[in-house]
Amino acid sequence: MNSLKKAAFIACVIMLAYAMVGTAVLAGGPPLKDNACGVCHQDYGTIMPKEHPDVGKGVACMTCHAPDPAGNEATKFSTGVHTIHQGAKTKLDCSACHAR
Ligand code: HEC
Ligand code: HEC
Ligand code: HEC
Repeated sequence: MNSLKKAAFIACVIMLAYAMVGTAVLAGGPPLKDNACGVCHQDYGTIMPKEHPDVGKGVACMTCHAPDPAGNEATKFSTGVHTIHQGAKTKLDCSACHAR
């Protein structure tokens, strides 16, 4: 390998490494703020879907519906939260829930 090709190869490896780190950080979506729902919804009983498994009333949604760091696939939960807060019932900025 001549030195120019070698330099190009190393540059590619570095860019690939950056791309992989970037994906790892974003997997599961942008991080949520602490108490992401509780700042606005003090009473979780009122936002619990009617057809929800019985989990009691006072439990924070995110204790069970925690982001799955292994996947950035939208879940039914995240899809629902997004539609509700992006038009269906109200319109929030991403930053209302996501830290960045
Ligand atoms: C910045 C304020 C804010 C934040 C943060 C927020 N919401 Fe909401 N949410 C609202 C408003 C406003 C409404 C529409 C009025 C209402 O129905 O209470 C709403 C409605 C809802 C509803 C529909 C309730 C109904 O009437 O059917 C659900 C479910 C819900 N939010 C869940 C969540 C979850 C889960 C989170 C956290 C991931 C969250 N919200 C974070 C403001 C917020
Ligand atoms: C104690 C654990 C627990 C808590 C707390 C909890 N959930 Fe759930 N939730 C579940 C389970 C279990 C299911 C059914 C399995 C599934 O779909 O993941 C579910 C399903 C759902 C679904 C339907 C998803 C689907 O697959 O159709 C929605 C929407 C939902 N929850 C919203 C909420 C909201 C909003 C809160 C907070 C007010 C909340 N959940 C609190 C455990 C919980
Ligand atoms: C009302 C709170 C709320 C708002 C507002 C909100 N999100 Fe989310 N978002 C969530 C929750 C809860 C999840 C699921 C948990 C997770 O993966 O971090 C999520 C997940 C995601 C994901 C991961 C894929 C998925 O759907 O699960 C992406 C990407 C995302 N949000 C982008 C956005 C963008 C872009 C905006 C603004 C246009 C936005 N969100 C506004 C609560 C919110």
